[in-house]
Amino acid sequence: MSNYYDSHDGAPADDVGQPQTEHGMSRRQLIRHAGWFGGAVVLTVASGEVISHIADSRDTNAGAAAAAVAAGNGALRFVQVSDSHIGFQGPANMDVAGSFTAAINQVNSLGFRPDFVMHSGDLTHLSTAGQFDQVKQMMTGMQTDRVFTVPGEHDSIGDAGRTYRRTFGMGTLGDGWYSFDTHGVHFIALVNTLSLEKLGHLGNEQIDFVRKDLAGLPSDTPIVVFSHIPLFAMYPQWGWSTDDALKVIALLRRFSSVTCLNGHVHQLFTKTEGNITFHSATTTAYPLPKPGRAAAPTPQVVPARQLKDALGIRSVGYRQGDRELAIKDQRLA
Ligand SMILES: [Fe+2]
Ligand SMILES: [Fe+2]
Repeated sequence: MSNYYDSHDGAPADDVGQPQTEHGMSRRQLIRHAGWFGGAVVLTVASGEVISHIADSRDTNAGAAAAAVAAGNGALRFVQVSDSHIGFQGPANMDVAGSFTAAINQVNSLGFRPDFVMHSGDLTHLSTAGQFDQVKQMMTGMQTDRVFTVPGEHDSIGDAGRTYRRTFGMGTLGDGWYSFDTHGVHFIALVNTLSLEKLGHLGNEQIDFVRKDLAGLPSDTPIVVFSHIPLFAMYPQWGWSTDDALKVIALLRRFSSVTCLNGHVHQLFTKTEGNITFHSATTTAYPLPKPGRAAAPTPQVVPARQLKDALGIRSVGYRQGDRELAIKDQRLA
């Protein structure tokens, strides 16, 4: 399969500099991790149902899990898209709406209907009502049962997130946080973009919510946490971290499987700390520089072909009883 980010083609996953070498996922790990997507998936349509098989797997265990997930069998399958920046205008991407449309079309062509799609923030570029209407309208085109969102800092410009919450905050608590359960997995969606002076900040009220939310859960419940800004210190010099995340991390330590999925950094990056694995997602809008490789994290102008390679979507699968989620990052088709 050629559509993985790997270490040989200059794509984002393995070119993030020193932190990636120390903590990032090697190409081999990525392939194993992505095992169930790794084989050729054969789709058979029988009585209107799509049944898929993994025709060739690189890893027996991953292959078994992969086959179960790919075939459905009650497995959870969802999609993460991020940083669509609807309303952005600049040479780094002259048509972010077109790129996001391509991403939506790719979600709809995955060969399965995701249980839900999570947009992990920076839905809009400037938080205008028109941009929120546009991105919401576009996301109604996703063939999925439910669309979830968390806000990015670009979604709370000038109004502390009020327009965001009016558009996407129905049923949420506090400044827009919430949790939900499906397929035996507990999901928590956090808001860490509202403190402009300490970008990447949760606040005590939200941390209390997490504490109460987790209190009754058995430690073998798989936990997935969504936030826009990473909950790990990816590059604090650029605000790519959350200053009080350790209080939430401490609450997550007793769980056997925790996965934190974020956006904001516009590039793939993976890091494991004990029981917790963090995965930064890429964007559908424009690339940002690797940590420390520029004076500031500003939109990068790259040749058209390279732009397409930098944008993408992520699919995630989970079979009950497994310790890890299977994650596949794909370039925009
Ligand atoms: Fe962004
Ligand atoms: Fe952001």
